[in-house]
Amino acid sequence: MKRNPLVAAGTLTVLTLLFACKKDEPAPTTPPDANTIIGKYLNLNLDALPEYAQVNYPVHYNPGVLAMDNAPSINRVTNTGAVLGRVLFYDKNLSRNNTVACASCHSQAKGFTDDLTLSEGFDGGKTGAHSMRLANANFYAGERMFWDKRAQDIEDQSTQPIKDHTEMGFDDSAGGIDSLIRKLQALEYYPILFEQAFGSPEISEEKMQRALAQFIRSMVSTDSKFDQGYAQVYNPNAPGGGIGAPFQNFTQQENQGKMLFTAPPNAGGAGCAGCHQPPTFALAANSLNNGLDIGETTIFKAPSLKNIAVTGSYMHDGRFATLEQVVEHYNSGIQPSPTLDNRLRTPNGQPLRLNLNDAQKQAIVAFLSTLTDNSLLAEERFSDPFK
Ligand code: HEC
Ligand code: HEC
Repeated sequence: MKRNPLVAAGTLTVLTLLFACKKDEPAPTTPPDANTIIGKYLNLNLDALPEYAQVNYPVHYNPGVLAMDNAPSINRVTNTGAVLGRVLFYDKNLSRNNTVACASCHSQAKGFTDDLTLSEGFDGGKTGAHSMRLANANFYAGERMFWDKRAQDIEDQSTQPIKDHTEMGFDDSAGGIDSLIRKLQALEYYPILFEQAFGSPEISEEKMQRALAQFIRSMVSTDSKFDQGYAQVYNPNAPGGGIGAPFQNFTQQENQGKMLFTAPPNAGGAGCAGCHQPPTFALAANSLNNGLDIGETTIFKAPSLKNIAVTGSYMHDGRFATLEQVVEHYNSGIQPSPTLDNRLRTPNGQPLRLNLNDAQKQAIVAFLSTLTDNSLLAEERFSDPFK
């Protein structure tokens, strides 16, 4: 890939300015090449960036599924944008005392969440909710982010942890996001990366949001055992793309769990897929409450169930430690509330009781474990780029 001469010229100007400002040292005659500066801090080659923009979707990610992608037309994923997002995501400079990065609470090896019930912020404070997995966030057609859906979209969400007084600490008392932007602008690598991604070296909150959102939207999960099995039997003309057919790579128990997960309660299933939609396992946009608390009025979302078995602590407050407890909640624990979803009610409006036997409960847990995507958990393009 050839570097745009305009970008190179811009980088040169920035470098000249940077060096002109350093009083004690004489300005070097030839500013070091952008890649040399980047190479001091990051395992990245600007001339051979990893691929984020072009995703090779398997067949079962059919046009109907791809249409759910919530990327706005003004912020499609680009390689330069996503890589900038990745650097920001792993940079502890984004916290007030340089101790916490986004990745501290969203660890790749853990499906982009952490092992804790509540996460730990820059100063040891606990977050108010359990950290969320990030895979397939782009396929949540409801767009809104956070458990309680208080952020409008991924862009809006992405800088809120930075300004949060517990998470990363650039709240008003620390000078807000402007103070962070001045801090980042002074780091050698950012002007170069912002120039590459957005055509000018100046940092703004909007550009940070766009880059972080691009990186998050590129965390697509398409390679779990479930995906491998579905791709083998996928048939665009069969109902549900043939998802009901036994998967050849599944055990009998996993296939039974798949049937229970996907079939509605009036057809002998547990109806999970009515809300957690295969193949992305992102939540249906119109999902209401799942009956955790009696009288609940807040409507919560869930992140995609991809990689659900990698860590414990489930639901917005991390109240369940195991998937067995989650399944038991749906089996016998649904609480009534005005916002309880109809999919979890009997025809006369009462909380649903599934009356599953132990083998059926275990089969659902086994199926949930097939959603682990080891590629996503290990792929280098989502890993820490810092030296
Ligand atoms: C101290 C831990 C912590 C840090 C640091 C952190 N997060 Fe989070 N993240 C959380 C928690 C906890 C939630 C759920 C919060 C809630 O819903 O109230 C969350 C939720 C999210 C979500 C919403 C996902 C969804 O499906 O709705 C996204 C996206 C996200 N974080 C991205 C980021 C980014 C980007 C950064 C860095 C700028 C970051 N996080 C830093 C803990 C953290
Ligand atoms: C009416 C829609 C709906 C149905 C049906 C449904 N869920 Fe959920 N599910 C949700 C919502 C909403 C949440 C998040 C609730 C919260 O944390 O407040 C959730 C959370 C979860 C979680 C925890 C996710 C996390 O990141 O911690 C798991 C696991 C889960 N559901 C599995 C299932 C299974 C298995 C079934 C079928 C037995 C099922 N769900 C049926 C809506 C639904």
